[in-house]
Order: sequence, then C-alpha cells, then structure tokens
Amino acid sequence: MGFNLKGRHFLTLKDFTPKEIDFLIDQAIEFKRLKYAGIPHKMLEGKNIALLFEKPSTRTRCAFTVACIDLGAHPEYLGKGDIQFGKKESNRDTAIVLGRMFDGIEFRGFKHETVEDLARYSGVPVWNGLTDKFHPTQILADFMTIKEKLGYLKGVKFAFIGDARNNMGNSLMIGSAKMGLDFRSVAPKQLFPNEELVTYAQSVAKETGAKITITDNIAEGVKDVDVIYTDVWVSMGEEAQFEERINLLKGYQVNKQMMELTGKKDTLFMHCLPAFHDLETEVGRDIHQKFGLEAMEVTDEVFRSKNSVVFDEAENRMHTIKAVMAATLS
Ligand code: CP
Ligand code: NVA
Repeated sequence: MGFNLKGRHFLTLKDFTPKEIDFLIDQAIEFKRLKYAGIPHKMLEGKNIALLFEKPSTRTRCAFTVACIDLGAHPEYLGKGDIQFGKKESNRDTAIVLGRMFDGIEFRGFKHETVEDLARYSGVPVWNGLTDKFHPTQILADFMTIKEKLGYLKGVKFAFIGDARNNMGNSLMIGSAKMGLDFRSVAPKQLFPNEELVTYAQSVAKETGAKITITDNIAEGVKDVDVIYTDVWVSMGEEAQFEERINLLKGYQVNKQMMELTGKKDTLFMHCLPAFHDLETEVGRDIHQKFGLEAMEVTDEVFRSKNSVVFDEAENRMHTIKAVMAATLS
C-alpha cells in the first residue's frame, strides 16, 4: 500500500511528511511524462472544481484550469466580485455551499485563515493557491524543477534572497526543512522570517538533516549555493510599501556579481514569477520613473541567463497541481 492522501487538504507543507512531499513530486514527474507522450490521464472524470481567486494570477489560475481539464474534471473560475463571498456571505456559509456542489476547492487570497475556514467547513479537499502566509503548490513545482535539474533535493544548498518573511520565504523554508536542504534566508534584519516559524523549521531540520540559516550577510548566505531564489520585493496587497522596501532591499538584487559570489558557475537562478527584471511592465516603468531602477529583485541579464530555470518552474506548476488534485481526490 502506497500513500493515501484522499480527502486531505493542501494548505501548507507543514501538514505533509517528507515522504508525502516526495511522492507528490514524483507523481508530477509522471504526469509530465504522460502529457509529453500524449497519453490521456482523465482520472478525475465527472469531478467539479471551484477556483476561488481574491488576488490576480497567471500561473496558478492557468495551472489549475489546464490540470483540471487534462484530468477530466470541470474547472469553474470564481473571481473577486463574481460571488457573494466576503461581502454578503461569510466564509463558513460560502464553504458549505461550495462543498455541496464541488468536489474540490482552490483558494487564492489574502488571509490564511480564509483558506483554513474553507477547509474546516466545506467537507471537500481545499488547496491553497497562495495566501499572505504560504504558497505551498509553488514549492512543489520549485522542488520538482530542482530534482529535474540536479537529480536530488537532500543536501542542496539553497539561498532565498529578499523579503524572507513573505509567503514564498516562509514556504521555501518549511519545504527545505522537510526535504533536508541547506537553506539560507538572506535578507535585511527587518525582513527576517517570523521567529516562531524559524524555530519550527529548525525543529523539523533536526529530524531531516536540513540546515536552516538566517542571515543579512550576502557573501555568507550565497557561498557555494546550488540555487539562488528570489521573489518580488513587494507582494500583492503591500503596494503602499514600495519605497520602504526598495530602500531595504536594493542591496539584495540578484545580479551577476551576486551569482559570482557563490563561487560556482552552474548555480541555478529561480523565481516564482512574475518578476521585475526589465521595463516591459507598467509597474516596472513606474518604479523606474520614481526611483531610477532598471530592474528590482533580479537583473535582466541573470533572468535571461542559461542558469535561469524560471520557465521550467512555471510549467511545473501545472504538473504538480495535477499531482495534488489527483492524490487528494482519487
Ligand atoms: N507564481 C505564481 O503563483 O504566479 P501567479 O501569481 O501568476 O499565479
Ligand atoms: N510573494 C508574491 C508571490 C507571487 C507568486 C506575492 O504574494 O505577491
């Protein structure tokens, strides 16, 4: 008997064992093989899936939609303002109604408590497509990408640079602790991850052989790393903080000099996307006008370099989300 994840929610990697996480990554690799070979895998035929989005999304929305269709399920997008949720109807009542009609619910939004409420009251599996605290489906795609590129996860030296207390910083730290990585949060002290979460990650690390380091020293943080990972300096919902964040993080931009500081030539560059690496976006141009920056968290040179695997990560969102839905629904 293998793993039975049927009926489980996917809210944070805290709830999953290393074996379960590894199982989901391997399932995703298998789904990728099936997709590439054109072999049908409609194991969720007849299921209906609600995709609830309070915040915008390209990758997560498309990954859930295509994954549902490939698996034979019907996805229904419920965007901000489309339903009564939050304005005229409570989380609890919405959860109960959706659970009476749908077989599974994806939620992307602000408060982590909202996705917990949906899980508590809906009676069907609920998947976290990003909250202010965690972004666990992204970590599966990132770890799948590392496994594809390097062949293993345990012992991988990994530096997360930037806003280390955001949903990505938190989730990568938990995932790394679970999977035995040598993880470094590299950030100014004001943006260090929450102490309670660091203590939790360190306690998991004791069991898995992972190493968790929190530092504001870039040279120390990126020394010998196999992966440099960054994310936007200002997450969705925090737009009022651009100036303060730029001042805190401008020394933490991932650029050629930082890549060289690793001492390795083949260090992978990773980013969950979207990324501010050029002036091809409205926000990028606005920031350029106000603060004179050509790029924020990563230069265009690094983003487009041969070490960059950002679009592999983006594609792998779909394969990993398929694995999560299939494992929890069938
Ligand atoms: N990485 C990610 O979650 O992208 P979206 O915001 O486009 O879904
Ligand atoms: N930290 C980012 C992640 C986007 C995928 C945000 O929450 O906006």
